Amino acid sequence: MSIVYLNGKFMPDHAACVPVLDRGFIFGDGIYEVIPVYHGCLFRLPEHLQRLQNSLDAIRIVNPHSTQEWHTILNELIDKNNSGNLSVYLQVTRGVAKRDHALPENIQPTVFAMANPLLPPEKAMLQNGVRAITGDDYRWRNCHIKAISLLPNILLRQQAIDAGAYETILLRDGEATEGAASNLFIVENNVLVTPPKGPFLLPGITRDLILELAIQNHIACEESVISEKRLRSADEIWLTSSTREILPVTYLDNQPVGDAKPGPLWHTMVDLYQTFKQSFSR
Ligand code: PDD
Repeated sequence: MSIVYLNGKFMPDHAACVPVLDRGFIFGDGIYEVIPVYHGCLFRLPEHLQRLQNSLDAIRIVNPHSTQEWHTILNELIDKNNSGNLSVYLQVTRGVAKRDHALPENIQPTVFAMANPLLPPEKAMLQNGVRAITGDDYRWRNCHIKAISLLPNILLRQQAIDAGAYETILLRDGEATEGAASNLFIVENNVLVTPPKGPFLLPGITRDLILELAIQNHIACEESVISEKRLRSADEIWLTSSTREILPVTYLDNQPVGDAKPGPLWHTMVDLYQTFKQSFSR
């Protein structure tokens, strides 16, 4: 049993209930964050809270809490779930109102947060890499908003699972945007490349940290459009996210990526990432 937070109270997960007229339930009208916790400390919290603010602004919900209040809520949630390594999920929906597409006035947002054990990727995934497929990015034009309405992402991720792969890399008009639940990097002639931010991808917190680490460590990197051709001829492909960190893709659409082993730059970046993780505290 885990302890969750709902609208000002902590309670066992099975006791947490939301009214059926909550617009999150009816419309998927809300936004979320996923924040990793290492040894009881929230990782990159200011960056996650800034993205939360950006998502709230984009869908016109007033942030129900100050930064200090978020710190207090999330740290109490972690303490109540025995600290350690956790994945904190938090969600803000517009709240409860009679069903109407128009935005209701004067309603309280629903705030929910939970913490689950954060399991490292299986050893085999890191040793051998994962398989990915490509798929048509048929999502909307506001993928920078971390919206809870994830139906396209769910279906696109399932395409990969049905094909015996781990993730679907999305192609929009001949350009690779990101994974169904991850950001995308390639390595091309020792240069690390990721698509520029914009409306077609989520500005990942892990993505930004990897670019920061690359710059600090004099690894050549650039934000530029990754055409399908570039993707298919990349020396390395990585998928990044807060929960799975940096995963090497060794097969794309059943074709080997490079020599079908996690590449040298991936090894370097994983070491830098782990060192960075160890150097931070609450
Ligand atoms: N998803 N792009 C998409 C579409 C994502 O869903 C995610 C993460 C990312 C990576 O972002 P970050 O590095 O900030 O985790 C990129 C989370 C983990 C999820 O939905 O569970």
